[in-house]
Amino acid sequence: MLLEPNYQQPFSHLINMVMFFVVNLIHCMSKIDSFFVSDFWGVLMVVRFNPSCLTLYQHPHHSACFSKQVAVKSSYGRHMKRGGILRPQIDFPSSPLGNGDGLRVFVVSDLHTDYAENLNWVKCLNNVKHSLNDVLLVAGDVAETYDLFVVTMSLLKERFEHVFYVPGNHDLWCRREGQKYVDSIEKLDKLLEACKALGVETQPMVIGELGIIPLFSWYHESFDREKDITGFHIPPLEMACKDFHACKWPQGLSNGDMSLAMYFDAMNDKQLEMTNEVQMKCDQIITFSHFVPRQELCPEKRMLFYPKLPKIIGSDSLEDRIRSIHGAEGRKDSSSACHVFGHTHFCWDAVLDGIRYVQAPLAYPRERKRRMNGGENWLPFCIYADNKFSERLNPCFWSDYYSANPRTPQNTELAPWVARFYRQTQKQSLDV
Ligand SMILES: [Fe+2]
Repeated sequence: MLLEPNYQQPFSHLINMVMFFVVNLIHCMSKIDSFFVSDFWGVLMVVRFNPSCLTLYQHPHHSACFSKQVAVKSSYGRHMKRGGILRPQIDFPSSPLGNGDGLRVFVVSDLHTDYAENLNWVKCLNNVKHSLNDVLLVAGDVAETYDLFVVTMSLLKERFEHVFYVPGNHDLWCRREGQKYVDSIEKLDKLLEACKALGVETQPMVIGELGIIPLFSWYHESFDREKDITGFHIPPLEMACKDFHACKWPQGLSNGDMSLAMYFDAMNDKQLEMTNEVQMKCDQIITFSHFVPRQELCPEKRMLFYPKLPKIIGSDSLEDRIRSIHGAEGRKDSSSACHVFGHTHFCWDAVLDGIRYVQAPLAYPRERKRRMNGGENWLPFCIYADNKFSERLNPCFWSDYYSANPRTPQNTELAPWVARFYRQTQKQSLDV
């Protein structure tokens, strides 16, 4: 859902938007240590991050190290010291991946294997199954085309005993599929059929003592309840979000209202019986979705290059589903209730109201090279081993930021790096 000019807009508008994007990208790259451009014009943050953990899957010696300190350089926030802060020591257990005999659950989202680098990353995953109990949860956005989706999921199925999947928005794009599908719903059906043929799970299941529940979802604009940023020219959703043009929906379904969120949520009703069975049998449950269940799992608008981002990321009914499964207060505690999500490409690991929320995105190559999560080597992230969830939260820039700083969405003063971005944009517009 990369924010690109709307190719259906008038040509002059296109030129304007291309200039807007290029000028600001160059500006950003020249001014900061590291930048992040998400599916959207995401967050830009002055940050340096020490590489963290190499997983069993990609480290030649199976080392499970974690950097002892995470140094973050930031000029923002009164709780962050100028020139860098040393946050609490992050010290994973010596063997976070378990002994390899028991059930292990790895998570990843936003594979985007349309990018050759990303497909190569999948190919480079260790192709020896470490045990018959390794599980991979793929939280959507695998590939834009059906063929690449099948290639990617086949590769993953060769490497993991169990692979689970929920669809993301990119998976349902039709723009490169010619006339193969009437609409995105037909493509969704084909993807689910392909999963069945490959042995990829899309329904709730108990493995060992752990319950795994995929949740279908789509976003709706009213998910965003925080105060809007005003006074700047922020492109409308239709222009900023490719879904509005790359997906095709049958009559009655539309990106501009609640219909898609309701449609996808209703798909979960079809697997209610299996969900109830998992709830009865299991004390520990992982649910997972592509979209975001709570707005607190996304940075505040003033931090975002595209402040309207929260309008195209999440679903209230998704959080209702999660609560109905894990309980209003979570399960016994966050060590038994976990929800994995994707879509925004912001790494996340935090506990909210008794549920642990995790995002472990592969994201786009350009994001990965400069991002603040230590690159790609920590992925897929092992969330569960030795009959328990990993005990320490994974270091992730934004969830760590919000564990130390209160959320103040009533403050609509743009963060310095965003303000600079928009000032430059408006100056460029005037110059033109
Ligand atoms: Fe997505």
